[in-house]
Amino acid sequence: MMRETPWVAPPGLEGVVVADTAISDVDGAGGRLTYRGQPIGDVVRNFRFEELVPWLVDGVRRPNVQPLVLSLPLEPWPRDPMAALAVILLHLGDTWPDDLDEGCAMICGLPVMFGRVVGTDGDSVWDSTAGVAEQYLTLITGKKPASVQVRALDAYWVMAAEHSLNASTFAVRIAASTGARLPLALAAGVAVLSGPLHGGAPEGVLELLDAVAERSDCPEAILEEKLQRGERLMGFGHRVYRSVDPRAQALREVFLDLVGTEPWADLAVRTEQAALRLLAERHPERVLATNVEFYAAAVFKAVGIPRLLCPPTFALARMAGWTAHWSEQHREGRLIRPLARFRTS
Ligand code: ACO
Repeated sequence: MMRETPWVAPPGLEGVVVADTAISDVDGAGGRLTYRGQPIGDVVRNFRFEELVPWLVDGVRRPNVQPLVLSLPLEPWPRDPMAALAVILLHLGDTWPDDLDEGCAMICGLPVMFGRVVGTDGDSVWDSTAGVAEQYLTLITGKKPASVQVRALDAYWVMAAEHSLNASTFAVRIAASTGARLPLALAAGVAVLSGPLHGGAPEGVLELLDAVAERSDCPEAILEEKLQRGERLMGFGHRVYRSVDPRAQALREVFLDLVGTEPWADLAVRTEQAALRLLAERHPERVLATNVEFYAAAVFKAVGIPRLLCPPTFALARMAGWTAHWSEQHREGRLIRPLARFRTS
């Protein structure tokens, strides 16, 4: 009997819909992002990270989420911070609560647990009654942060919490479809996010900003040199957003509130403007706008998050979206099991 040839998805699954979701919607052509039907700008204004996590999971707002922080053994943790985050999740697997509300409280406590593992000497000024963003910054930088820095990190976390079906979220949904428990599914998300094509862009933007800062007279010349060498300007362009990235716009406001008067903030803004100008000249056929990573990197620099901790700081935010997708996929109750086509070379 002839074997039936199944439909073959395009490489990278581009243009293929593999899930229904009520969690978020990315409108690439219109440059809009909504969480549970609300525009991202409104969500950032109305939610702190601790409030966002359970709301993203089921759409019900709880005002007083108490982060759950468990003690972790002192050492040894992997030196790579993303690996350390994954190992923390695996370690917590034994005690992770099955109740989803408590699971959300654990997600809110994770930045504190992670901060205690990778942080500097923040323990001396750490205030365990403060909000999670404040506790995290204290543990990471070793200093009590200014309230404007705390608000900026909180806004970034809310904005980075969810972005529909990207690679890491898909990985978490696949894990959920097998019945994997939440902490192990989240560790799968961290592993996928550790790749430079997914969670690594802020580091590239920071390198760009540092290069520009060294020759602060003229960002345009440095950008031009990069383009001449065929390099891409990190923090510009997006696979899905074809007009604007709404997160970049919202985070730009946060950044300007935070350090708007400092000289390097002015330099970052001039760099953005010069890059947009050069990219428009080179690619009049398409819009290459500022993406969220440009201002994420600028906010990280302004609040004192070191370069190595940019990816895990992003991952800590994305735990919220992953948890919502894990829960949604669990309810779906269908194992994700695609096929592969065999070929000999
Ligand atoms: N700098 C310079 N040129 C660019 C850039 C950029 N940032 N982005 C796209 N282009 C150019 C490409 O060189 C290409 O030119 P060509 O046709 O002359 O070869 C053209 O625009 C189309 O490029 P594609 O790769 O097809 O565009 P796509 O939309 O698929 O790429 C991507 C999106 C990968 C994000 C790209 O814009 C890029 O590499 N940006 C820089 C890296 C970056 O900022 N990544 C973070 C993305 S946001 C996020 O992940 C949350």
